[in-house]
Amino acid sequence: MLVVDDSAANREIIRLFLSTIDVDVAQAADGVRALEMIESRQPDLVLLDVRMPRMDGYEVCRRIKAMPRGRLLPVVMITGLSQTTHRVMALEAGADDFMAKPVEGAELIARVRSALRLKELYNTLDSAEHVIFSLATAVEAKDSFTEQHTQRVGESARLLGEKMGLSEPTLDTLYRGGIIHDIGKIGVADSILHKPGPLDAREVPQMQAHVAIGENIVRPLQSTSGLLPIIRHHHERFDGSGYPDGLRAREIPRVARIVSVCDAFDALVNDRPYRVRRSTQEALAVLRAGAGTQWDPETVDLLATELPALHHLGAA
Ligand SMILES: [Fe+2]
Repeated sequence: MLVVDDSAANREIIRLFLSTIDVDVAQAADGVRALEMIESRQPDLVLLDVRMPRMDGYEVCRRIKAMPRGRLLPVVMITGLSQTTHRVMALEAGADDFMAKPVEGAELIARVRSALRLKELYNTLDSAEHVIFSLATAVEAKDSFTEQHTQRVGESARLLGEKMGLSEPTLDTLYRGGIIHDIGKIGVADSILHKPGPLDAREVPQMQAHVAIGENIVRPLQSTSGLLPIIRHHHERFDGSGYPDGLRAREIPRVARIVSVCDAFDALVNDRPYRVRRSTQEALAVLRAGAGTQWDPETVDLLATELPALHHLGAA
């Protein structure tokens, strides 16, 4: 674990209190150093003082929680006073727990033990999410034509979201949703996935079932619940003729509309079992022709203006 406090005396007191339990205690004297150490040492828990020079504890906590793994790292804030406002500020900064100064030994040990249990729980969530993403990779391996396709869809969806000014958690949803959106194809027969021609009336519903299969795979996981709208709705069409719910225009969740455009574009500029790849300009012409019927026109326009950046991602 990592103790962050500008006072060496306070850090030493905490280290002494915790010497009776089995835990490694690293120390940082300010927030900037703490953020570096979190990157390099990956502690299980951060004990964070509020009042520090350079960057106060609230800001440090916000930055930790904005890191990719920060959501899964418990932060206990040590507030100078037991006033409600301080606790509220700690919670608003994303802290998992807080305690008041002066720190008392038995309470400190109890809080640390509880936060470490929380970390163990986070670790299991994290590994469940790993399984899901490994499964998404397995789906891709079923079809050699789509190598790295979902990775590019995730990256380009994130980039378009960024240009739209969407929040950081939403960008994370777009990235992960782009990777995972077709996970339900694990339940679709290879003969249908790889069929070189159009699907017949019996095969179409089997292919379309991949959105519901994907939802069922991912639904039990709390940490991926934000991805469900992308998995369910990435085959809706802007004019309402898509599946599974026939949503139209803005009824379709925005994240699903973005992923849908990125998915189509990347598919067009890469080879598929039934056709060879098209040029970027040809692909764009296809998207423009379908803007307003199949795809969200605003997202298609944005993609057109961001082509150079997408190219940089290897998506065009
Ligand atoms: Fe799909």
